[in-house]
Amino acid sequence: MDNRPIAIIDSGLGGLAVARAIWRQLPQESTLYLADHAFFPYGDKTAGQISARLPQLLDWLIKRQVKAVVIACNTITMATIKTLRQRYWLPFIGTEPAIKPALAYPDAVVLTTVATAKHLTKQPGVLIFPCPGLAEAIEVETGKKLKATIKSYLDKIPGKYSALVLGCTHYILVKAIISGLVGEKVKIIEPSAAIARQTRAVLAGKQLLNLSGKPKRSFYTTGPARRVRGIIFTRCSL
Ligand code: DGL
Repeated sequence: MDNRPIAIIDSGLGGLAVARAIWRQLPQESTLYLADHAFFPYGDKTAGQISARLPQLLDWLIKRQVKAVVIACNTITMATIKTLRQRYWLPFIGTEPAIKPALAYPDAVVLTTVATAKHLTKQPGVLIFPCPGLAEAIEVETGKKLKATIKSYLDKIPGKYSALVLGCTHYILVKAIISGLVGEKVKIIEPSAAIARQTRAVLAGKQLLNLSGKPKRSFYTTGPARRVRGIIFTRCSL
């Protein structure tokens, strides 16, 4: 039994979609969420810039004695998870656009950040569709304005499609809006439940599961402290 927290990291709020799945599947685990708002967005950064930034986050997390790190961000995973695994002894669980399940559909669209799109290989029947600025809008907009912004991106997708992959964790936060806009016939594919299952498997394999005790959830941001979606984020300087 190991009651140290699981770290969940993202450039901003998107990783909360993954955190929710982890809380559902591993309710006994403590979690420490770290949003790197000071460096947000990651989607317009180069892989070099992201790789240079991550060790600062990791060193801070290690001081807080986390037992594993869930990278709840496609952009970080694609840019640097391999390097992180070489450099740190911690178990890492990554997030990648769920393209494999989309291949079961005749025509699929993968929504990603610009940075993630650069790492994906073209597959027949799959359109990679980068959405510059969409994660930023999801951070700050609400209600009708947010819905109109999301619609403006979806309207630009050429042709018809039967599956839509949410290849950025921010997009999972607005899954209900997306699905309302594209209609029931389009299958929305997103990996948060699979990431939570993988987290459990990795922890179980290393005997790191917490089987009892009172879980604690803490939330930090490298940006200004704030309350968002009912969660109080404490400012941390790395
Ligand atoms: N949430 C992040 C992802 O899954 C990226 C958002 C950003 O551009 O920072 O890729």
